[in-house]
Amino acid sequence: MTLDERLIHLAGGAVTCVIDVSTGGPRVLHWGARLAREELDALAATTEPAVVFSSFDVPRALGLLPVSGEGWSSTPGIEWHRAGAYADPRLAITSVERGARKDHGACDAVDISLADAEAEVTVLLTLRLDVHGILRARYCVTSHSDGERPLDLAALRIIMPLPARANEIMDFTGRWTRERAPQRMPVSDGSHRRAARRGRPGHDAPYLTVVGEEGFQFRSREVWAVHVAWSGDSEVSVERLPEGAGVHSAVVAAGELLAPGEIRLGPGDQYCSPDVLLAWSNAGLDGLSEAFHGYARGLDAHPNSPRPLTLNTWEAVYFDQDPGTLTRLAALAAQVGVERFVLDDGWFAGRPDDRSGLGDWVVDASKWPDGVQQLADAVHGHGMGFGLWFEPEMVNPGSELARAHADWVLGTRIGPTTWRHQLVLDLTRREVREHLLERIDHAVRTLGLDYIKWDHNRDLHGAVAHVDGAHAVHRQTLAAYELIDTLHQRHPALEIESCASGGARVDLGILSRTQRVWPSDTNDPIERQMIQRWTGLLLPPEVVGSHVGPARAHTTHRTSSLDFRFVTALFGHAGIEWDLASCSDEELVAIARWARLYKEFRPLLHSGRTVRADVADPGALLHGVVSIELDHALFSWARVATSGAASTPRVRVPGLDPSRQYAISLREDLGKASRQAVSDPSWAVASPPLRASGRFLAEVGLPLPLLNPGAALLLEFRS
Ligand code: GLA
Repeated sequence: MTLDERLIHLAGGAVTCVIDVSTGGPRVLHWGARLAREELDALAATTEPAVVFSSFDVPRALGLLPVSGEGWSSTPGIEWHRAGAYADPRLAITSVERGARKDHGACDAVDISLADAEAEVTVLLTLRLDVHGILRARYCVTSHSDGERPLDLAALRIIMPLPARANEIMDFTGRWTRERAPQRMPVSDGSHRRAARRGRPGHDAPYLTVVGEEGFQFRSREVWAVHVAWSGDSEVSVERLPEGAGVHSAVVAAGELLAPGEIRLGPGDQYCSPDVLLAWSNAGLDGLSEAFHGYARGLDAHPNSPRPLTLNTWEAVYFDQDPGTLTRLAALAAQVGVERFVLDDGWFAGRPDDRSGLGDWVVDASKWPDGVQQLADAVHGHGMGFGLWFEPEMVNPGSELARAHADWVLGTRIGPTTWRHQLVLDLTRREVREHLLERIDHAVRTLGLDYIKWDHNRDLHGAVAHVDGAHAVHRQTLAAYELIDTLHQRHPALEIESCASGGARVDLGILSRTQRVWPSDTNDPIERQMIQRWTGLLLPPEVVGSHVGPARAHTTHRTSSLDFRFVTALFGHAGIEWDLASCSDEELVAIARWARLYKEFRPLLHSGRTVRADVADPGALLHGVVSIELDHALFSWARVATSGAASTPRVRVPGLDPSRQYAISLREDLGKASRQAVSDPSWAVASPPLRASGRFLAEVGLPLPLLNPGAALLLEFRS
């Protein structure tokens, strides 16, 4: 076998992945920095570790689907059985189909077919490496046996090797209104395992699992990352054994979390895993973001029109929907420059509060005697798009629907437990999907909806289908996807936002079919600075909703200044969630000014490269977006806690073109940020504005104004 026959050499962006297909099953020899064709000889010659004491008599190797039978003692790549038999998968390559050949003999796509002839199972592994360096891995398993015993698939995981220098893990946890809080820990022997068993990723979703060189930051060190692009249950683990993993040290394993009996394949049946997305960077977390943002922006569902400034009625009126009040709110919204008006929860019958009403989806005639049409027309008349809130997968026990169809509810024999007074509809039933499609489609057509805020306000527990008594999260997730896809097919211009109690369904599976996520129910800018920073690790700002609320945040009762709220909400798909009728004239003028600023900067903010500086002061955050042409950038310099020092040390501003000169200006059009100083560093007030090279800014930096906590200002760079 020649080297070219033996090795699959995938190359894309800054990444190379090399897979050996010469032995029984595929083996990843390398996943990381670009390798040249000439380096593959050395790679191939160095894949065998030493044979150590008290071990196998041959060198250990790590397969892509490692199992116990081939000497792997950590979590297996695949687990199955047929009524207890064939429990030791033995998959061997049957064919390899290489994709487009690129430079130096590299290709960016490969399909590897494997078979376990005795168990009568075939597996297709597809690997795609895109121009951004994102490696997309997916398995499809087909059971061919026509015997009595179906194939019970218990687990299917993408398992990728990590080098010994990748010794620190970062992933995420959280709770309602405090989503995507990072947690870090060392890689150690054993398993750091995260399982999402909530039927949705959850407020505490691991989100993105990063493993890297100790102390990795936004702009430095080598990092590897994995994300499961899936809105149901999933699992990710970082595992290390004392004996390592071939010449690698540890592994990251990721896939859908399957419940017992959930995937039972009869003859000809197939299970396909969600996409597992893998990224590598030698420039820290920002390098990962660049790759993931490029990938997300390339999705068919990714919006390519300017992101409309949105007003959402939730915190303005809650359930207290009055046509007159909302029509006036729409007029005020139009006046300040809003482009999309979204009527939130409370418009349908039986919904005075969150205890009832879900499931029927007919307009509440007591609140809306003339229908919602009247408001939709007024909104459209102002030139704004109109959106409506739905929570399709849920039902309140007292609704007409629940009364008529008790068997449409998902739940165990123990009996389903309510959460926010609601139960889950069994979307695996065709008639349930048809009911929902009919109701939503009717609203889209009759009201001319431009937008749906699609909520999902509870976890799924004991999610068992009535029809067959089997676990249903997998089918439920696919059914929700199908519903969204069908609506989009029928209404191609309709946009959909994924909101699950704010932030509990944020993943690149849902974003393959929706245009925005609502990352958190909190509009408190201090909380938002952190939530947006970490949500933005995976997602570009244009799909992350970010609203300006009233001074006193409803979720934390903390008060913050208007300019801080403005600057914070600018770095996302911006909106307003505030009763504009309660605003003073000065506030309305300020909101209109902010709306103009958002429209001025959104072409940059929604297409450029996200940059976060590594700032020594833990109370200060410097982040921004640099245009792809590197000629323009907008940064936010924000303070979320007081400074330990009474000084303004230089802060390095990374991400600009080292060879260009930039004019630097403080933009405080939104109001002067509150200072903890008599005056700013002199450059900041000098005229004409300071000019400095991108290299100087990144290497030496600038003393920046000393702000009070809860203050932020904008820095603009133009070359
Ligand atoms: C969830 C959402 C909120 C709002 C309410 C309505 O909590 O996250 O934004 O839509 O539901 O009930």
